[in-house]
This record gives sequence, structure tokens and C-alpha cells, in this order.
Amino acid sequence: MDKTSEKERINEMIDATMKVSRGDYYIQVGLSDKMDEIDSLAMGLNMMIDDIKAGTVGLEYANNRIEEIINIIQRVARGDYAAAYEISSKNDIFDALGMGINMMIDDIRNSTEELHRVNEELRASNEELQASEEELRATNEELQASEEELRSSNEELEASNEELRETQEQLIRSEKLAAIGQLAGGVGHELRNPLGAIKNAVYYIKGKVAKSELAQNEPRVMEFLDIVDDEINSSNKIISDLLGFSRVGKPAVSSARIEKVIESTLTRTPIPENIELTKKLDTGLPEVNIDTDQIQQVLVNIITNATQAMPEGGKLTIAAGEKDSFLEVEIADTGFGMTQEVVDKIFDPLYTTKAKGIGLGLAVCKSIIDRHEGSIEVKSEVGKGTTFTIKLPLKTE
Ligand SMILES: Nc1ncnc2c1ncn2[C@@H]1O[C@H](COP(=O)(O)OP(=O)(O)OP(=O)(O)O)[C@@H](O)[C@H]1O
Ligand SMILES: [Mg+2]
Repeated sequence: MDKTSEKERINEMIDATMKVSRGDYYIQVGLSDKMDEIDSLAMGLNMMIDDIKAGTVGLEYANNRIEEIINIIQRVARGDYAAAYEISSKNDIFDALGMGINMMIDDIRNSTEELHRVNEELRASNEELQASEEELRATNEELQASEEELRSSNEELEASNEELRETQEQLIRSEKLAAIGQLAGGVGHELRNPLGAIKNAVYYIKGKVAKSELAQNEPRVMEFLDIVDDEINSSNKIISDLLGFSRVGKPAVSSARIEKVIESTLTRTPIPENIELTKKLDTGLPEVNIDTDQIQQVLVNIITNATQAMPEGGKLTIAAGEKDSFLEVEIADTGFGMTQEVVDKIFDPLYTTKAKGIGLGLAVCKSIIDRHEGSIEVKSEVGKGTTFTIKLPLKTE
């Protein structure tokens, strides 16, 4: 006989309810063999407890699955594409969800890998591009360098060509000069004696005629004899010019002051009154090694040309100074000047534009200055004037 009182049985049910509320779903209320209302109540309670247990277990399972899924998503978000939902054999909604997630992970992994590949390809072609850009730049630099080389060798070539041309011209000029000199010397020498005889004869005739009636009756005879005498004198001048020209030899140099050479040249060269002479001679110029006679001849020739270029008068300026280890003498006139065509020919022997000129003055100047290893240059403007610049090398010690 079951001695448990009704009160105790109810208390057991209350107790079970309390335990269930605290999460203990494994409790069951014991039954008596009375099968009375309290047992029915207890059976109902036991069934309820079973239901709650089943529901709670299902909830827990779902919770765990969801946590697992969240964990997988977080791993994928961190780039771990090895993460995958493990499919159970339950075939429930979570397996379906898991399969979907696994497919998505596969897709993400594939497209990420594709992205990486494209990125890598891009990086490689970028590197190639940079390399070819670098090559291009280098080739461009090489090209520029060789262009520069070409340009400079071209310039060098042009310069040596110009030098060659000048040397050739100088050679031709000095050969011409030598030939003319030889001829002039010979002819001058041969003409000197007959001219001397003619001059003596004219002198004798003039003496006789002057005392005779012929001079009174025919006064023009004396005039003509004077003309003959004058022409003999100018022929003599030409001959001595020619002889002087043929004798231009190696300069006999000695140390000299250019100011003194200029001054003594001026005392020997008459300057017409209508020409105003200005001297600009720097003081304390260094001495130069020159053949004073020859340099004087140069100065005389140039000054004579300058005065001849100013028949109506003008200004003659003679300057001397030191420049870049050269002594510079400048002779400037305000005469009629020359065209470029004339300038190109003035140093050629026998080139003249003057009725009574021989055209030897400047050829001689050029040959003398060349022998001094100097240079002679000319600047001229028609109607304005002409400037000759002579450069003589200073002594190097
Ligand atoms: N200062 C100058 N102004 C203008 N023309 C000049 C001047 N100097 C020279 N010339 C020109 O140069 C030419 C050559 O001069 P160069 O002294 O060699 O011969 P030239 O004076 O004609 O004759 P010469 O043999 O008597 O000196 C002259 O005929 C003249 O045309
Ligand atoms: Mg002259």
C-alpha cells in the first residue's frame, strides 16, 4: 500500500515544476498505483516536461548551428576560404543553409583567385611597361648623345674645312706674290737703267731748250718736257714700289714700342689738312717683337689708302691697345668705304680700283703681318668709312 499522502504527491509535483523552471528537464514525477486524478495530473505534467525538454534541445541545436554558421561567415570575411559548413545527415534546414553558404564560399574563393591572377598579370605588364619606358628613355638619351656627337664633329669638320680653305687661299696668295715679286723685281731692275738714261737726256734737253729761242717761241715745248719729267718720276716711284714689294723678306724682329713706331710713321706720312687726325694710344703698352721697317710700311700703306678714301676730308683715327694677348692697332677712316665685293679682293696682289694704283699696298701688308704671325681684318661700310684692325702677338715669356 502506498503510504504517500496526497499532500506529499502534490508537493512532489510543485518541486518538479520548480526544477523544470530552473532548467532541469530530466525530472519526472513518480506515479502511484491509484491511478487517481493526481496521477492523471502527474502524467500530464510529465508529458509537458518531455515537451519542454524536446523544445529546449531543438532550440539549443538551432542555436549551435547558427553560431557555427556565423563563425564560418566571420572566417570567410577574414579571407579564410577553407572554412566550410559540415553537412550532417539530418537533412534539416541548417544543412540546406550550409550547402548554400558552402557554394557561396566556393564562388567567393574562385572570384578572389581570379582577381589575384588578373592583379598579378596587371602588375607584370606594368613592370614590363616601366622597363620598356626605361629602355626608351635610355635609347632616347643615346640618340641625343650621338646627335650631339655628330653635331660637334660636323662643326669640327666645318671648322677644319674653313681653316683648310684659308690656308689654301693664303698659299695661293703667297705663291702669286712670290711670282709677281720675281717678275716685278726683274722688270723693275731692267727698267731702272733706261729710265735713268731718259731722265738724264730730258735734263740735258731741258737745259739746252731753256737757253734757246725755242723756249720763247714755243713755250709748250718746256711744258711737255716738264710733263715727261713728272711722268719719269712717277714711273720711278712705281719701280721702287715694285722693287720694295719684291724684297719683302723674313722679318728681322726686335723688341719695339708700337706707340713709337706709329709716331715715326706719322712724321713720314703726310696727312692732308682737311683730315682730322685722332690718336688713341693706350699708355704702358707692352713691347712687341716686330720688324719696325716692315710694320712702318704696313702703317704707311693703310694710312695712305685711308687718306685717299677721303678726298673731301674726314676723320682718321689711329688706336692701339692690348687685347687677349695680342696688340691691336686700329686705323679708321670716314671715307667712301667699300662694298663686300671689293673687301673680298683687297688683299689680292694687283687688285686696285684706283686709276694710278698698282694694287700692291694691301697685298704687301697682308704678307708682312702673316710673317709676324698676326692678323689683319677689315670692316667697311659704303658711304661711312673703313676700319683696319691689325693684331700682333705679344711676347710669350
Ligand atoms: N681705306 C680704304 N677705303 C676704301 N677703299 C679702300 C681702302 N683701303 C683700300 N681700299 C681698296 O682696296 C684696294 C686695294 O688697296 P691697295 O692698297 O692694295 O692698292 P691701291 O691702293 O689701289 O694701290 P697701291 O698699290 O698704290 O697701294 C684699293 O684700290 C681700294 O679700292
Ligand atoms: Mg694702297
